[in-house]
Amino acid sequence: MFKKLMTVAAGVVLAGGLAACGSDGDGGSGGSGGAGGSGGSDEITMGFAQVGAESGWRTANTKSIQASAEEAGIDLKFSDAQQKQENQIKAIRSYIQQKVDVIAFSPVVETGWDTVLAEAKRAKIPVILTDRSVDSDDTSLYKTFLGSDFVLEGEKAGQWLVDNAKTSDTNGDGAIKVVELQGTTGAAPAIDRKTGFEDKIAADDTIEIAASQTGDFTRDGGKKVMESFLKSQQDIDVVYAHNDDMGLGAIEAIEAAGKKPGVDIKIITVDAVKDGMTALSEGKINFIVECNPLLGPQLMELAKKVVAGEEVPERVVTEETVFDQEQAKAVLADRQY
Ligand code: AHR
Repeated sequence: MFKKLMTVAAGVVLAGGLAACGSDGDGGSGGSGGAGGSGGSDEITMGFAQVGAESGWRTANTKSIQASAEEAGIDLKFSDAQQKQENQIKAIRSYIQQKVDVIAFSPVVETGWDTVLAEAKRAKIPVILTDRSVDSDDTSLYKTFLGSDFVLEGEKAGQWLVDNAKTSDTNGDGAIKVVELQGTTGAAPAIDRKTGFEDKIAADDTIEIAASQTGDFTRDGGKKVMESFLKSQQDIDVVYAHNDDMGLGAIEAIEAAGKKPGVDIKIITVDAVKDGMTALSEGKINFIVECNPLLGPQLMELAKKVVAGEEVPERVVTEETVFDQEQAKAVLADRQY
């Protein structure tokens, strides 16, 4: 009981400026002590610091983590950082204070984690990077990184454009003018998807990125940036959006400008969530590179091993595919998220 009260107190500290809840929605206060940390039971306690709820992908990822924790019998303390690094750092410090058995998080941006990760290391709490990685020279600060290869995702998007260059010149002027909707500035998927895409389109000198701006991975952000691109840029042929939500926002802006998305302006996105796949099957998007959000089962498996002191691979890459319009029509009915 005393331990439980102490945990409640730590949860209250976390609540300042942070949306936090346990897997049972109890404000981060629930759960018994962890296997090694606060002791008393064999149940593993995991502190998970999520990026936010910025996209359909993120919502599916959160659901996967919460459902998998329950299934695996792991006591999950979950916090939503509302896309702010300082909130994630606060959440991680709170998990250290609560002596959880393992910390997992999806870093909102790549840099600036060494201090808090060193604190977790000193407290002997293992850390698992999930979905996104950190940019740090000290790889001893975390046990493993589970997630997609974002550079490869960008390459797949760029390769599709190179392979479909002829039909993507919607204005028929011999030049393919691309506008890019970037993810959150400084986030690994924004940096890597840009790099991968640029590397591939370099093979065709008729393709150029005319404008590139962040839409913060949100539908609203994608819509606003696309509205401004439509005003500032003549003859846009292609939109490359770093996620489905921004692509869906761009569709709204393109339709409002009296143009046909997928026809007058081709659209390439990343994620393949249900709303994106629906737009793809309707012909409003032309190509989607999949990014799999269902990381929960693998994360729980890794967490059990790490807490038991077993070796885990330093990198676990998610398997993913790509979809064109016909492929989207074929799988849409079975798409879970
Ligand atoms: O880190 C994964 C990316 O973050 C997804 O592509 C995007 O939708 C999310 O917000």
